[in-house]
Amino acid sequence: MDGTGKRARRHPPAEGTKGAAVAFGEEAASDGRGSACDGPRVLVLGGAGFIGRHVVAALLARGARPIVGSRQPRRRLARLPDAPGWCEAHIERLLAPEDWQPLLAGCDSVINCVGILRQRWGETYDRVHHRAPGALAAACAARGLRLLHVSALGLGGPARSRFLTSKRAGEDAVRAAGGDWHIVRPSLLDGDGGYGARWMRRVARWPVHPLPRGAIGRIAALDVGDLGEAIARIALASPEDAVLATREHELGGEHAGTLREHLAALRAAGGHAPARVLRVPDVLVRITAHVCDLLHATPFSFGHWELLQRDNLPQPNALPGLLQHPPRPIGGRSLAAHALPVAACPSDAGPATPPCRVSTAAPAPASA
Ligand SMILES: NC(=O)c1ccc[n+]([C@@H]2O[C@H](COP(=O)([O-])OP(=O)(O)OC[C@H]3O[C@@H](n4cnc5c(N)ncnc54)[C@H](OP(=O)(O)O)[C@@H]3O)[C@@H](O)[C@H]2O)c1
Repeated sequence: MDGTGKRARRHPPAEGTKGAAVAFGEEAASDGRGSACDGPRVLVLGGAGFIGRHVVAALLARGARPIVGSRQPRRRLARLPDAPGWCEAHIERLLAPEDWQPLLAGCDSVINCVGILRQRWGETYDRVHHRAPGALAAACAARGLRLLHVSALGLGGPARSRFLTSKRAGEDAVRAAGGDWHIVRPSLLDGDGGYGARWMRRVARWPVHPLPRGAIGRIAALDVGDLGEAIARIALASPEDAVLATREHELGGEHAGTLREHLAALRAAGGHAPARVLRVPDVLVRITAHVCDLLHATPFSFGHWELLQRDNLPQPNALPGLLQHPPRPIGGRSLAAHALPVAACPSDAGPATPPCRVSTAAPAPASA
């Protein structure tokens, strides 16, 4: 047993996994955690990240048994003391469908919340955002597992950033794999603990907001807890649930606003007087973005600069229908008067999926 109270065992690396790409932790039975419910096992890749943590919490609230996938599960477990299971996964090494088999054994569905802001070592955009999700999607399709792939809004427009083009290629690969795939595209997220969200809140507190002149695109920021709930709803929906009628789910908060309005709302929520705005020339912004990418500094990247120059709004916004309650406001108040179109509320969906229920197209093999 490791220091967290979880029983841990490292499987010999499966053929094709190229080293210690996968290892598993067993559910803690002795302390009663994670064993109260016989709910569906949902592998949450990136489950210790900003989005992933909220997905795991929402799954637990619905009676499912999330298995957290992480590169460093022992270090990350402190963030998720209630998670019933974990597995070690370095997805940049899992580039063929067969590489995924040891991880998928015993799972009822899979949620991919993995993403990198910057490349490092062998973790390239192409591997992490494109090839690994493509292989995962093919493996899930072969097993009849539902796959939810967390992507981002704004990938349809012209993009030069490899961060964005790799994400678009990842979506294409998930679609091409067939099976029970779903793509979730959230707008910018607010909440405690996210790298980008923390920076947004920090900048909002500054008395002067440096804003790119060209940042004219609107976003529909949403609360990360709402996103977790929406993702859990799709992952656990029974086949007849109307939420599955669409495979691509664009999610945002209730209002659209520019970056300037988003920062102003966050600042107002903190009880501060409006900030002064310093308009920064686009050429300087672009140079800054490249320098940030080079130095791995701040969450601001060239890809984000490309996104800020055009609207990135959910069309339509599926979040209210999935939540079946209004999205939580960002920064405690409305951003602007631009109400977003909302996807029709699935009328026959009934109440939120009851705990401990999931359906997959084919029974999964016994647990690893
Ligand atoms: N945050 C936002 O506002 C936002 C908005 C729209 C879309 N998104 C997208 O949503 C995804 C997740 O975002 P996030 O904010 O939750 O990011 P995050 O907090 O950085 O979480 C990403 C997770 O991915 C895992 N990961 C990274 N590289 C990996 C690898 N090679 N193998 C296995 N796991 C790996 C990390 O897990 P470990 O460190 O535990 O290994 C990390 O916890 C990204 O694709 C992002 O672009 C984010």
